[in-house]
Amino acid sequence: MSKPGESSEIDSVLIENRRFDPPSASAVGAPRWLIGSMDEYRAMHKRSIEDPEGFWGEIAGEFRWSSKWERVLDWELPDAKWFAGGKTNLCDNCVDRLVDQGHGDDTAIIWEGEPMGGEGPEVRRLTYADLKRETARFANALKSLGVKKGDVVTIYMGMVPELAVAMLACARMGAAHSIIFGGFSPQAIADRVTDAKSRVIVTCDGAWRRGKVVPLKQNVDEACDMLADRGEAGVEHVVVLRRCGSDINWTQGRDNDYSELVQGASDEFPPEPMDSEDMAFLLYTSGSTGKPKGILHTTAGYMVFTATTAKYVFNLIPDQGQVFWCTADIGWITGHSYIIYGILPNRVPTLMYEGAPNFPEEDRFWGIVERHKVTQFYTAPTAIRAFMKWGAEHPKKHNISSLQVLGTVGEPINPEAWMWYRKHIGRDICPIVDTWWQTETGGHMLTPLPGVTPTKPGSCTLPFFGVDAAIVDNDGQPLPKGKGGLLAIRKPWPSVLRGIYNDRERFIETYWSRLPGMYFPGDGARTDDDGYFWIMGRVDDVINVSGHRLGTMEVESALVSHEAVVEAAVVGMPHEIKGTGIAAFVTLENAFTPGSPEDAEKLRKALTAHVGKEIGAIAKPDMIRFAEALPKTRSGKIMRRLLRSIAAGEEKTGQDTSTLEDFSVLAKLREPQEG
Ligand code: WT7
Repeated sequence: MSKPGESSEIDSVLIENRRFDPPSASAVGAPRWLIGSMDEYRAMHKRSIEDPEGFWGEIAGEFRWSSKWERVLDWELPDAKWFAGGKTNLCDNCVDRLVDQGHGDDTAIIWEGEPMGGEGPEVRRLTYADLKRETARFANALKSLGVKKGDVVTIYMGMVPELAVAMLACARMGAAHSIIFGGFSPQAIADRVTDAKSRVIVTCDGAWRRGKVVPLKQNVDEACDMLADRGEAGVEHVVVLRRCGSDINWTQGRDNDYSELVQGASDEFPPEPMDSEDMAFLLYTSGSTGKPKGILHTTAGYMVFTATTAKYVFNLIPDQGQVFWCTADIGWITGHSYIIYGILPNRVPTLMYEGAPNFPEEDRFWGIVERHKVTQFYTAPTAIRAFMKWGAEHPKKHNISSLQVLGTVGEPINPEAWMWYRKHIGRDICPIVDTWWQTETGGHMLTPLPGVTPTKPGSCTLPFFGVDAAIVDNDGQPLPKGKGGLLAIRKPWPSVLRGIYNDRERFIETYWSRLPGMYFPGDGARTDDDGYFWIMGRVDDVINVSGHRLGTMEVESALVSHEAVVEAAVVGMPHEIKGTGIAAFVTLENAFTPGSPEDAEKLRKALTAHVGKEIGAIAKPDMIRFAEALPKTRSGKIMRRLLRSIAAGEEKTGQDTSTLEDFSVLAKLREPQEG
């Protein structure tokens, strides 16, 4: 993949000619398809681009507002304001509005815990009325701890119903949440808490994962110690939900028991009217520097766009026995948008599963589909590749014929995985929606519509309503069909990120300066003869590991912070399950140069553990190679392209090494080192 500045034309090697026409609704048991034909899709898309204000204004009218907006869109690059002058509340539109419409007894959330007793797993169902009461109580609890409108509350919890309650309670009272995935380390928590200036953390004693307890509270304690060591104002309150019954330390005055707090709290907390452009939440994600960025989403545009994408992309229709399941963790944007905010307003129950896909056995997911008659199933290519590896006998053990629509997200899906998904999970009839989007876009951008869009394995097909996507060269000029280039979005859409928290400059530089007048997502792509989009991957120093974005610089900084390391370069390499694995090339301090293969292995283990401690398990390198020097150009730039082909085990003869400073470096890096 070429890097910005090198060339915008990217060679595409994937040629895929299979094409699948959509099935009728009756074939898969769906009540009907919301969009009836490609002509209807095209007409709606055309209108959404030519008259975004009319299009989105009509849809926004279906939500509840405490005062109506004055203008649908104000756009002054890079600042979009949607529904300016209006006041609304996300929690109200996900919960109270439905209760007031007479649906208080409808199931909002179906939750299944990981542990499997003889009696089967623990299952909890929360109705919209339950959610109204619980979010009001927890909002009162947060208020009692001094949380006010506009504050940032950090949430670091497992996948339990109280996580949904906590985030919706923040929305209810007008506090922003910053949710940190439970796989991140104390260091990562501390950095995010500092950046967000957050004073309150909501956590659990632990989280169940594959039968073991992830020590969430202990990680929070360590993060708090780090903040104290840095001499920062620090965390005033930690709220702890007891989920696993594990032993935890308790800091008097700072720590609060979740149950005790809500027990005494009132059931009444009217949703706070929020300006359309008030901050809804921060979500930290990796970029091409060492420091994660707080992606900022606001209230009304995010609400309208996520609910609308969910409705059409998953064909959500209430009162038809549908059950929607997105397998992501709420700690990622996929979980924010398609477990909670986009699904609840559509009044189709959203399923939350607490644990691992292979606990106690590899058929767990299909047992869940069977038990709860899941109709829409949304997962990631990395998970599908794991299902493939485990074998088709696992879904075969269960009746999964309730499924109507399958989705994927997170990275380009390889056609074999797509075909396997279609055959073994989709009975060769369920449409697959391959949805391209990002933390920054808030919701789906390029995606098929089920029952409408003919699909091709590996393509995310066509733009959603309101999305004006194009493939352009480095100057922003459109490229012809078939030519690889940069993916660009030429018009604002309702849930576009509004900023990087505390970093206006980086916001402008990352997304709005690369291409004139357009949003730059950082992906390379091409279109085919039908105008279908094919994503080719990142064009920056970001890799996509198991569908999660990771900045190579972040891993490099973590490595360099180890006493043995002088310099490190991290690149992606092909990996059977993760899609992209992490390869690290490391030069060492002389004193740490391993004297034997055993010493080298020990050091590799130590470095891997160190990265896990600095960032989290997802960032642990899959391969570490030691080198006396890294290949650099004469101007001192690490030649990552070269490292990528070494990591992939390719001996590309066509590689241009004419600017390489020291040829012997290359030969050494290619030498096998393992063992
Ligand atoms: C990056 C965004 C959106 C939630 C999950 C990841 C890649 C995402 C697809 C897809 C090809 C995809 C892109 C994008 N990506 N979905 N369907 N096909 N690539 O969110 O961590 O913000 O990462 O994931 O490279 O830029 P994220």
